Amino acid sequence: MPTLVIEGSQWGDEGKGKITDYYAQIADVVVRSQGGNNAGHTITINNEKFALRSIPSGIFNPHIKNILASGMVINPKQMLEELHGLEARGITKYNLYISNRAHVVLPYHELLDGAYEKYKGDHKIGTTKRGIGPSYSDKANRIGIRMGTFIDEEDFKESLSETLKIKNAELKMLGLEELDLNTIFDEYKIYAKEIKRYVCDTSLLIEEEIERGSKILFEGAQGVMLCLDHGTYPYVTSSSPTGSAVPLNCGIAPSYINNILGICKSYTTRVGEGPFPTEIESDIASYIRERGHEYGTVTKRPRRVGWLDCVELNYARRVSGINYLSLMLLDVLTGLDEIKICYKYEIDGKEIDYMPATIKELNKVKPVYLSLKGWDEDISNVKSFDKLPENAKMYVRKIEELTKASVALISVGPDRSQTIKIKEIF
Ligand code: GDP
Ligand code: IMO
Ligand code: MG
Repeated sequence: MPTLVIEGSQWGDEGKGKITDYYAQIADVVVRSQGGNNAGHTITINNEKFALRSIPSGIFNPHIKNILASGMVINPKQMLEELHGLEARGITKYNLYISNRAHVVLPYHELLDGAYEKYKGDHKIGTTKRGIGPSYSDKANRIGIRMGTFIDEEDFKESLSETLKIKNAELKMLGLEELDLNTIFDEYKIYAKEIKRYVCDTSLLIEEEIERGSKILFEGAQGVMLCLDHGTYPYVTSSSPTGSAVPLNCGIAPSYINNILGICKSYTTRVGEGPFPTEIESDIASYIRERGHEYGTVTKRPRRVGWLDCVELNYARRVSGINYLSLMLLDVLTGLDEIKICYKYEIDGKEIDYMPATIKELNKVKPVYLSLKGWDEDISNVKSFDKLPENAKMYVRKIEELTKASVALISVGPDRSQTIKIKEIF
């Protein structure tokens, strides 16, 4: 199968970076299709840890074409810092392509992100404050600046001057200082000059690669439940991280997508505000948080922790086209006597097996759990499904039954080598 979508099937941070890097060993192209530097993808190669934000996880392989597609919002300053940081660590041979239709994140986007959060007070979303929402809003409002414009000095200055009139009015309204056109222009034109060499029509490039028979990975950011359309709105991000949105975000035909792999933790986590039906706050949550190092890659916030929610996963499968799952961090559950899986919700005394749409209902649902026995064996070096403890195997089979998706990979540690392949899907 020449194409594979790697998609977060929960609330983000499922381990998409690790799995993209795993498959990147046999891929020719890795494409980031949406989001921006709100993402934090951790990759561990021979005990060396990298945290990628805007750059695709294929960057470590010199033969891979790494593409930032048109659905992304890119902060040029941060992206160049990330690139220079990688170069300083010896990653000097890489191929990078940036869509001329991707949007540029500018200083007013970050300022507005912070200001909106402040104004929302108790109703804040808990964003990463990287300007993602304001940048996608400008795109929808048709006042965004795209890469193709950004790298043309004259065009950039003209667009920035027009946009800044509106943005300064907005900043002033929110009690912030207005920004100076020339200060931004003089700083950002330098970034634009450096970025120019990477900018091209990535839709054309991806089609050429598909026609050539290249193996292409689409690296999702965030997760289905953070999707602007299908997530726990308004506690979501401002793009669509679903597999079904990949063709739109990349400018390619839907028929080019072969498999969609939902990356899913063996439990659930969430950073930021919003409903989380299976959230737990007991000692078990602390046990999982510490064993799984559940602290945000971008903001370092402790992640909220809960049991695996198969109502949510089944919903994610349905709305985004997941056909396989990669079950992550199974090693973290080692040592628990009992492991719970949510298979239904109860709301107002009624049992349901779907995700309600409103926050009011989501805040009311009570998870209904199945209880399974845990295991004590260290599984972090297990290389095949057969060698897993019987109770771990039962856990995996139960998840397949409840989500209607088949498990293609199991991850038992952060390193590339700590991955059990069950099915060949790429
Ligand atoms: P992403 O945003 O989906 O790429 O995920 P993050 O990188 O934000 O968070 C996943 C975390 O889990 C990272 O620290 C990974 O190194 C780590 N990780 C991934 N897979 C495993 C696993 O199977 N076991 C353990 N213990 N850690 C893992
Ligand atoms: P990766 O790709 C986890 C969350 C934020 C917040 C909400 C909106 O590493 O899985 P935003 O800054 O996007 O406007 O924030 O979305 N969020 C993520 N949570 N992992 C991510 O990315 C996230 N990107 C955004 O915490 O709740
Ligand atoms: Mg992350």
